[in-house]
Amino acid sequence: MPLLTATDIHKSYRRTGQADTEVLRGASLIVEAGEVVALVGPSGAGKSTMLHIMASLDSADSGTVLLKIEGQDTNLAKLSPSALAIIRANSIGMVFQFHHLLPEFTALENVAMPALVAGLSSKAANAKANTLLEQVGMLHRAGHMPMEMSGGEQQRVAIARALINEPSIVFADEPTGNLDTDNASSVAELLLGLRETRNVACVIATHSLELAHRAHRVVQMVDGRCIGPGNA
Ligand SMILES: Nc1ncnc2c1ncn2[C@@H]1O[C@H](COP(=O)(O)OP(=O)(O)OP(=O)(O)O)[C@@H](O)[C@H]1O
Ligand SMILES: [Mg+2]
Repeated sequence: MPLLTATDIHKSYRRTGQADTEVLRGASLIVEAGEVVALVGPSGAGKSTMLHIMASLDSADSGTVLLKIEGQDTNLAKLSPSALAIIRANSIGMVFQFHHLLPEFTALENVAMPALVAGLSSKAANAKANTLLEQVGMLHRAGHMPMEMSGGEQQRVAIARALINEPSIVFADEPTGNLDTDNASSVAELLLGLRETRNVACVIATHSLELAHRAHRVVQMVDGRCIGPGNA
């Protein structure tokens, strides 16, 4: 049984006085537990839009997104805002092209924050954050502010933050788009190793052919649909 099933997603953007932009035209994507899927396609093809809808950061005009939570296929669009907030915090991780770390907090505080919000004690949250920082090779920067870290280091901290509540799936939007080759490789390594280390599924929107080639499966966005093995 799949972890995530997005079916027949349609999404248009409406702007007054202009024709609708139809971005997704029946896009479907199935993701198995622990699977790393690369979502590729030209700029403007709808990769970020699809990712945001699957992560329930944005809503579709029609179609469904089911995420398996505690063995149950759960339709995210049907949840109350508070139930959705809990699922977003606990089951879904997000990594963006620009890391979105909070500038006034240290690496450790940034990573621990979602666990604190989820109700962990600060001692438990900090212990977990330290373990994750170690796993992403950033323990030596735990006390640094985002400004005191390189782009690649910040992105590794952002990945640790996305993982702290032990999500079943991480959505990464151009996670290496802003990095040099070495840092891009180490971030790719981290994301692609998630299945081995934590059985976390990952959908990565990327222009990086290297990253795409190393994913378990490559899905292409063409004419508002997802085309590739395992997808119609
Ligand atoms: N809020 C919005 N209002 C209007 N149009 C939008 C909005 N967001 C995205 N679009 C349009 O939807 C289309 C798909 O955008 P999207 O960001 O999903 O593409 P993408 O595949 O992620 O591209 P890139 O590779 O450049 O990141 C684009 O044509 C874009 O201009
Ligand atoms: Mg995009």
